[in-house]
Amino acid sequence: MSSSTFGRRDFLLGSGLGLGTLLVLPTVAASAEGDKVAIPLAKLEVLKTVGGSVVLKLKGKLVLLVRDSATSVRAFNPICTHRECVVAYNPGEKKIKCPCHGSQFDLNGHAVHGPASRPLATYAADLAGEQIIVTL
Ligand code: FES
Repeated sequence: MSSSTFGRRDFLLGSGLGLGTLLVLPTVAASAEGDKVAIPLAKLEVLKTVGGSVVLKLKGKLVLLVRDSATSVRAFNPICTHRECVVAYNPGEKKIKCPCHGSQFDLNGHAVHGPASRPLATYAADLAGEQIIVTL
């Protein structure tokens, strides 16, 4: 799939530090078609390095993207399943952590430390050349 097959849209970037502290960063051009969104890696410097992460708003949905390896990216709904704070990725522990009450999730979205017991919702994400394609 090439980006030329997508219509052009703009999306806001944010940093998930907890509900109410969402930081809105400059608008980044992305492309979308159907339920797929293509984001140029050149617009997401933080995801060029393994361990990098960012929360984006794509098609009205918050998405946590984590660069988990040289060849892959994972995508999650960053809303904690305990009481809906926005989670963040901790690259040192390779865990997604909630700042509100300490819940932790692994890179499959599974809750590995409470109080949350339900997994984070995940989205399909592919690193395809110089772009990330997320299926919402
Ligand atoms: S809201 Fe995440 S642990 Fe309570």
